[in-house]
Amino acid sequence: MTINGKVALVTGAAQGIGRGIALRLAKDGADIAIVDINTDKMAEVAAEIEELGHKATTFKADVSNRAEVYAAVEHAEKTLGGLDIMVNNAGIEPPRLSRRLFGLNPTRRSAWPQAWRSMRLRPRQAECCRSARAGGGD
Ligand SMILES: NC(=O)c1ccc[n+]([C@@H]2O[C@H](COP(=O)([O-])OP(=O)(O)OC[C@H]3O[C@@H](n4cnc5c(N)ncnc54)[C@H](O)[C@@H]3O)[C@@H](O)[C@H]2O)c1
Repeated sequence: MTINGKVALVTGAAQGIGRGIALRLAKDGADIAIVDINTDKMAEVAAEIEELGHKATTFKADVSNRAEVYAAVEHAEKTLGGLDIMVNNAGIEPPRLSRRLFGLNPTRRSAWPQAWRSMRLRPRQAECCRSARAGGGD
């Protein structure tokens, strides 16, 4: 998949692995939606991405909050003009959480791609991955 020109959303991107993924995607040519609960650190990463010559937007969202997950996806799509890649890095999804938030069978599905698809954001063109997950499940 070509990264250049794509829009990527990365959760937990204010620091650590998520920050590294966001910066790498930006270096490869993507605009980045940074989603995290740490507003100050998100701003720092956004500045780093803009220094690389790409657009960045930040959105404060707790990935365990269903409404905030949907709002984050919508924000990214509206602000950056689309959404092609989603990295569900802030992985806190034990199976029970998917069931509680979305009423879904969590064994093979993550809440994020389903939220994304449910908003009809070009699912066939989309790439979605999870860098890591605490708690496991799918
Ligand atoms: N670092 C490791 O060795 C390792 C190993 C296995 C799994 N993981 C998993 O990889 C992921 C990232 O690891 P890391 O080392 O970069 O962690 P980190 O603690 O350095 O960074 C996590 C980021 O996620 C954000 N975050 C935390 N809870 C959140 C929430 N509910 N909603 C939105 N954002 C939230 C934090 O603010 C932070 O910016 C985590 O899910 C972690 O469990 C990491």
